[in-house]
Amino acid sequence: MIKIVYDIKVYREVLKDVIKADDIVVELGCHVGNSTRIISHLACNGKIIALDKSPESPDCMDAMMKEQSNIEFMKRDVRLHETLEEVLSKIKKCDVLSVDLGGGYHPDTNFKVFFIGHQL
Ligand SMILES: C[S@@+](CC[C@H](N)C(=O)[O-])C[C@H]1O[C@@H](n2cnc3c(N)ncnc32)[C@H](O)[C@@H]1O
Repeated sequence: MIKIVYDIKVYREVLKDVIKADDIVVELGCHVGNSTRIISHLACNGKIIALDKSPESPDCMDAMMKEQSNIEFMKRDVRLHETLEEVLSKIKKCDVLSVDLGGGYHPDTNFKVFFIGHQL
């Protein structure tokens, strides 16, 4: 199932509908973790691999990882195949691929990354 939405509030509501407690979630474009926090509660018995290339991400995500043991943050460019290969090496399956790369301005990036990420 693929769900595409524009509004961040709708995105977060959709996450609540689809993520289950045991899920393994890969989040592309976590920024400072505002949706990651929601995902980590929803997948409370699962795992979240959260990725972003922003210099704003590491401090916030490191602090969040101290609170929530099911989050693993990686500062990476998600357009690269080697990034997704690295993610794949950490997980046996991906239940939910959650993509928020600021698609309102560059929707093509989301589709390119989704194409690469469907291997997860
Ligand atoms: C709209 S923000 C994400 C907001 C976040 N998901 C939330 O719910 O608060 C988009 C993020 O995508 C990240 N991003 C865009 N292109 C990227 C890429 N190629 N690799 C990694 N991160 C990327 C940006 O750094 C930015 O933090």
